[in-house]
Amino acid sequence: QGATVIAVDGPAAAGKGTLARRLAEALGLPFLDTGLLYRAVGRRVLDAGADPRDAAIAEAAARALTPADLERTDLRGPMADMAASAVAAIPAVRAALLDFQRAFGRARGAVLDGRDIGTVVFPDARVKLFVTASVEERARRRFLELRGRGVAADPAQVEAEIRDRDAQDANRPVAPLRPAEDAVILDTTALDAEAAFAKALALVRERL
Ligand code: C5P
Repeated sequence: QGATVIAVDGPAAAGKGTLARRLAEALGLPFLDTGLLYRAVGRRVLDAGADPRDAAIAEAAARALTPADLERTDLRGPMADMAASAVAAIPAVRAALLDFQRAFGRARGAVLDGRDIGTVVFPDARVKLFVTASVEERARRRFLELRGRGVAADPAQVEAEIRDRDAQDANRPVAPLRPAEDAVILDTTALDAEAAFAKALALVRERL
């Protein structure tokens, strides 16, 4: 039967991070935010003054990644978002991060959130959720989150950035953003965080 792996995938700002973290807590499983890995790689490339689309530099950054990179406080924001999405389109970067994600999940089971957990990283995950919401609602949530953190943002620009990043993630040739065939789709457009969590936990429990 193996370790219990739960895949939580979906587009940007769908609330899957918070949801996946709470699921992990409720189920007593380790949690891995895989987006953080791509964000940390993008950050390293930006720090080197390089272009996140540069495959050789991005691959070297992925191979040099350390746990301390994941603790950085500057991994969220428009620059980091787009840099993460750019390095994530590079096959060698994805390959470099694959073993770590698999080893993490296999050790003690885990809830992992990302874009390709159910399709590529753990195609045999016990439960696969694809968490989504309308782009307008996701933009609204991201805008409120930024404002809550004291970051000045323009609502139209936040929505445009989310649309761009989704398009880039969904249209890349390797591990594109899409639901696995056996994923359960959870649309949270009309749900608050509490209701989304309750629904997700019920869906997971039914399948364990
Ligand atoms: O989930 P988050 O928004 O933090 O992810 C940042 C970026 O990392 C995404 O836009 C996507 O390009 C990439 N990503 C990915 N595969 C994952 C997780 C994140 O390609 N499993």
